[in-house]
Amino acid sequence: MIVSSASDYREAARRGLPSFLFDYIDGGANAEQTLKANMADLAEVILRQRVLKNVSDLSLATEWFGQPSALPLILGPVGLAGMLARRGEVQVAKAAAKKGVPFVLSTVSVCSLEEVASQCPRPIWFQLYVLKDRGFMRNVLERAEAAGVKNLVFTVDMAVPGARYRDAHSGMSGPFAAQRRILQAITKPAWAFDVGLRGRPHDLGNVSSYFGEAIALSDYMGWIGKNFDPSICWADLEWIRDFWKGPMIIKGILDSEDARDAIRFGANGIVVSNHGGRQLDGALSTAKALPPIVDAVGSDLVVLADSGVRSGLDVVRMLALGAKGVMLGRVPAFALAANGQAGVENVLDIFANEIRIAMTLIGVPSVSQINKTVLA
Ligand SMILES: Cc1cc2nc3c(=O)[nH]c(=O)nc-3n(C[C@H](O)[C@H](O)[C@H](O)COP(=O)(O)O)c2cc1C
Repeated sequence: MIVSSASDYREAARRGLPSFLFDYIDGGANAEQTLKANMADLAEVILRQRVLKNVSDLSLATEWFGQPSALPLILGPVGLAGMLARRGEVQVAKAAAKKGVPFVLSTVSVCSLEEVASQCPRPIWFQLYVLKDRGFMRNVLERAEAAGVKNLVFTVDMAVPGARYRDAHSGMSGPFAAQRRILQAITKPAWAFDVGLRGRPHDLGNVSSYFGEAIALSDYMGWIGKNFDPSICWADLEWIRDFWKGPMIIKGILDSEDARDAIRFGANGIVVSNHGGRQLDGALSTAKALPPIVDAVGSDLVVLADSGVRSGLDVVRMLALGAKGVMLGRVPAFALAANGQAGVENVLDIFANEIRIAMTLIGVPSVSQINKTVLA
């Protein structure tokens, strides 16, 4: 199969994965309106075409929190990536290091912090969820620090998991889920051998070492529902800010008032995100939410954004709307499922090339100079 874009990787992942895993990545909450709006609203961002600006020497590099990045991209946290390819999180981390961009390991990864950090030549970032067991949170932060993590991404838009209809239909959850998954795995022998057999243990690596028992992936969403804490508020979390001395980035902000609270909390950055349309369906797309948030807090902390980005052109659009960097969720997940580390490296090359083309055609030589002046 010829792969020239992120959508080709989506198709390759659809062919290679058991359908419960493809739908787990691809799907969103409820009627998936916000999922669709993320992409549709970004596609409506119109850029000014400029000509004869001598943009022969382009700079795509940037830096956040003192860490340089070769591209204005961060590979965002994706739970269970180790089910998409053998020891998947290690493969994504290695691809990110090779291409000089940050990788964020999810709390609910298959591979543990220690497994990933020991095999990755560049410091990883770590993403923390709010769990009821504060002992776990403290323990995992200590382990992150010991594993060399400097930047903490603290995700706050998952007080409960969104209503994901596709997961119930696909066998990710719902009646006879385990039996349905086995039937699907039989139809994908390459995945069954590479991941199902050789990719073991299938576990939540960061979580099971603390609880002292394997967390069965057979009831992943059920486990999240039981252990995530909807009672939480900013004041409850002040100890995290006191405890974590490095940069802290709050992920899942969609409202300017929450962005101001994040500053009061002591955040160094935020990710404007609706979790890729997987949480509150009917919430604003990030393309719409981002500009007022940048106006409100953009001079006080680093504003990153994600949700709906499917090409290097979309990255330039997000930067034009005011983001200082862009996180990717589904795109590297599909590339990982399709072709492991090499797929993730390749999709980063595709994005870099598309960013270069867009920068040339808008007449801007450096990503740091992309801002609202390039909007039509
Ligand atoms: C399969 C999947 C798993 C995810 N798991 C996590 C997670 O563990 N932690 C987190 O903060 N965000 C998680 N996200 C959200 C992504 O980090 C990101 O915000 C979102 O995917 C961006 O939207 P996009 O996929 O349209 O780029 C997940 C997203 C997907 C698709």
